[in-house]
Amino acid sequence: MFSFRWLAKEMNLKPLAIQGRRSLMNIGDSGYKVDAPLMLPDDEVHLWRVDLDAIRSEEFHWLKVLSEDEAKRAARFHFPVDRERFIASRAFLRKILAGYLDAAASDLTFTYSKKEKPSLGPAFSNRGLTFNLSHSGGIALCAFSRCRDVGVDVEQIRRDFEVEGIARRFFSPHEQDELAQLPAAERVEAFFRCWTRKEAYIKATGDGLSLPLTQFDVSLTPGCTNALLSTRPDDAETSLWKLIEVPAGSGYIAALCVRGRDWKLKDWSANPGKGGDSPVMFPVSPN
Ligand SMILES: CC(C)(COP(=O)(O)OP(=O)(O)OC[C@H]1O[C@@H](n2cnc3c(N)ncnc32)[C@H](O)[C@@H]1OP(=O)(O)O)[C@@H](O)C(=O)NCCC(=O)NCCS
Repeated sequence: MFSFRWLAKEMNLKPLAIQGRRSLMNIGDSGYKVDAPLMLPDDEVHLWRVDLDAIRSEEFHWLKVLSEDEAKRAARFHFPVDRERFIASRAFLRKILAGYLDAAASDLTFTYSKKEKPSLGPAFSNRGLTFNLSHSGGIALCAFSRCRDVGVDVEQIRRDFEVEGIARRFFSPHEQDELAQLPAAERVEAFFRCWTRKEAYIKATGDGLSLPLTQFDVSLTPGCTNALLSTRPDDAETSLWKLIEVPAGSGYIAALCVRGRDWKLKDWSANPGKGGDSPVMFPVSPN
């Protein structure tokens, strides 16, 4: 599987140090219960942030809502930290989806496309709820929408590799030029900006890496709200999507890509939640 995580392994980069854990805090008043029902109008896209490292130690609790398949997948992780983060991210993906569906988190099932993109299984697929998830370091971002293809990508910024070499391998000529024109001190962040935008797009289409990364150009401009610049061979594809940078917290960069232009974002940073410094940050108060 291709990803920056995979690339970091290929380049023998050491795992980044884990940030200090924060004390546990609730998003509701009862043990991270996501209040239901959560409202998601057709013209909104919601972006949640989950601080996995703040909650992953309770893995046996989170494991209760996972399916047998998910539990088996969790057991295959080599390092405990990766297993715990996976379990926490799946549990909260389920809890948040259950909040929008007004259902029990453990009742949800997922189906997977040929390229492994998950969507809701048959019992809930007619509800039009679409989602995508990304994790990096100790956090996960989860995006939700109604009947729209959605892709999100977050990366923890790291500076211990040669940016230009990787850019030559994966970025389009236009993106490589844009990167080369920047002052050296700005290149690492620009690299991750480009990377997350490209991944958000291929995750939204669901193509994964079967879509060659050099077949489309994204902008490297910070905060750009229309970052898909061109697609090849059919440039008409460009106008079908909105690709934007989204907040991910200090030390991270993230992008979100959603089909259509007629939607607005509600993201975690606008409403840090009832708990204030909560590990699970939601974009809207329930109801
Ligand atoms: C999609 C992809 C680029 C994301 O990689 P990444 O940056 O390591 O991972 P992220 O944390 O951003 O996203 C992972 C999540 O994206 C989702 N996802 C997986 N495949 C996806 C796809 N094709 N499209 C969109 N989302 C996908 C899953 O929810 C996954 O979460 P999980 O690991 O908890 O199951 C990478 O997984 C990929 O290229 N997948 C394609 C695999 C493929 O083509 N398989 C074909 C086998 S024949």
